[in-house]
Amino acid sequence: MLERACETVLSEFPNESERVWVDMGGGTGYNIAHLLQYLEKTRGSAAKPVFTKIYCVDLSSSLCAVAKERFAKPDAVPRGVSVEVVCVDGCVWKPPPNVKVHLVTMSYSLSMFESPYPPVDHISSNILKKGGLFSIVDFYTSSSTSATDKQLLTTWFLRHFWQSWFDVDGISLAPERRKYVEFKFKQISATSARNIWMGIPFVRIPYYIFIGRV
Ligand SMILES: C[S@@+](CC[C@H](N)C(=O)[O-])C[C@H]1O[C@@H](n2cnc3c(N)ncnc32)[C@H](O)[C@@H]1O
Repeated sequence: MLERACETVLSEFPNESERVWVDMGGGTGYNIAHLLQYLEKTRGSAAKPVFTKIYCVDLSSSLCAVAKERFAKPDAVPRGVSVEVVCVDGCVWKPPPNVKVHLVTMSYSLSMFESPYPPVDHISSNILKKGGLFSIVDFYTSSSTSATDKQLLTTWFLRHFWQSWFDVDGISLAPERRKYVEFKFKQISATSARNIWMGIPFVRIPYYIFIGRV
């Protein structure tokens, strides 16, 4: 998801010199570190950074502490890039007034927000710049009667099975989450798939990757 989102940012904003990325519900900052490493490997360390400013926004103080420690290490962040960890509710955080955000990502985090509507509305109205991109990967279940053409239809049993399973961790797979994302952002690409859980081939959890623009 991150690599694809990054390619889309480069094609949508090829000439911008200062691009900004917000990883919403970024947890320990693993995804940011992963993408920075990927970019260094594929573009070389001398290349101009794709993002000059990156915000890792998360509600959990313990996860933010891990992220802060990660990015404080020498050489964790390439020259010309600044990573800021912000420990706050993503439904209220705003970038500084002079900062224009090109990309917001959510990696398995929208399903952990209490409701999808406040963060998605806040991202589209108050965080992203005009034409900015939103990219998400998350688990989901389709609704009982239908799935949109890009969604995999989940059976009654699997819908209830997966939701009960994820309830333990406070994760919601409700179909409205994905539907609201698709409603709020103009789709650039969308993929549905099932991953393999704990290496057991027949236990496959539906997930989606969506990239859209505001
Ligand atoms: C399953 S973790 C995913 C972490 C990371 N994005 C990843 O892919 O490994 C979900 C994250 O969403 C964060 N989260 C949940 N509600 C939030 C909120 N209201 N504001 C900011 N972060 C939130 C949690 O603290 C948690 O770190």
